[in-house]
Amino acid sequence: DLPQKVTIYEVGARDGLQNEKTAIDTGVKADLITRLLDAGLSPVEATSFVHPKWVPQLADAKELMTELVDRLGDRARELPVLVPNEKGLDRALELELRHIAIFGSATETFANKNLNQTFDGQWAMFEPTMNRAKTAGMTVRGYLSMCFGDPWEGQVEIAKVVEAGKRLFDLGADELSLGDTIGVATAGHVKALIQAFGDAGVTTDRLALHFHDTYGQALANTLAGLQSGVTTYDASAGGLGGCPYAKSATGNLATEDLLWMLDGLGIEHGVDLDKVVDTSRWLAEHLGRPSPSAVVRALP
Ligand code: HMG
Ligand code: MG
Repeated sequence: DLPQKVTIYEVGARDGLQNEKTAIDTGVKADLITRLLDAGLSPVEATSFVHPKWVPQLADAKELMTELVDRLGDRARELPVLVPNEKGLDRALELELRHIAIFGSATETFANKNLNQTFDGQWAMFEPTMNRAKTAGMTVRGYLSMCFGDPWEGQVEIAKVVEAGKRLFDLGADELSLGDTIGVATAGHVKALIQAFGDAGVTTDRLALHFHDTYGQALANTLAGLQSGVTTYDASAGGLGGCPYAKSATGNLATEDLLWMLDGLGIEHGVDLDKVVDTSRWLAEHLGRPSPSAVVRALP
């Protein structure tokens, strides 16, 4: 049985834009987020409070959130943002934001490349961040990267992913998003990983799936996730995305491609496909290249 209803967690403004070579004006980013909200997407992840030198594309996080608060008021404070450490949390608290996401790695190599930490050191970095966020009443999403494969370490053991995911829950994460950072997952692997979390006592209502479409498997993997009972899917308008610190990472599952499949399956999502397509085409003009989404290209 498939779920009747799913939540799409839109990451285009963050995962999408963090990897773009073209510099995008803060005002255009604010327009993008406003359009995505208007299309019915919720949550819409807005940006990252990371080191500006590590991700220059999102160095305007403060200006962007200030602009959004001006435009949308308190609604802007409901938009989740990435926060890796206490310094990032301070920046989010200053703007009175309500939802953050910390992002860990299932592998040692990527913890080092993405966070400048060891595998164990990342939990030590997250602990005070998490504790202070919780004390401030924030919700905290936990992302886990390299859940299916790592460009430096190859296959990643399911047991290791479950152990790392449980660390994020033990720290206090409200939800865990399992990231296929480099898009190598296949449907059987997805089912096996969700099953292993279930065996470890983690129910599907606490899981989200975050697929990149590098090998063209994201929709098949999503169907495997739906068949396994997961109801939250990360996707990016127009299929933008990738991680600057993960060799070979390309775009996320396109929100439009996901919507097309969900409509065909009769699964509710509350999003206006035409508005998302319009937005992706509008953004493609700012980026100077067409959207990689098959549905955006196919629709008249
Ligand atoms: P570091 O250099 O080890 O930081 O970076 P540090 O703690 O040693 O501090 C050095 C300086 O940076 C200090 O300044 C800090 O104040 C400053 P100084 O005293 O020298 O003037 N600093 C900061 N400034 C602003 N904001 C901050 C911050 N933290 C320290 N938050 C750090 C460590 C974690 C900061 C760095 O590695 C970093 O920013 N990494 C982020 C990388 C990133 O954003 N990657 C992409 C997102 S993850 C992803 O895409 C995967 C996902 O989509 C799921 C999937 O697909 O798998 C989520
Ligand atoms: Mg990602």
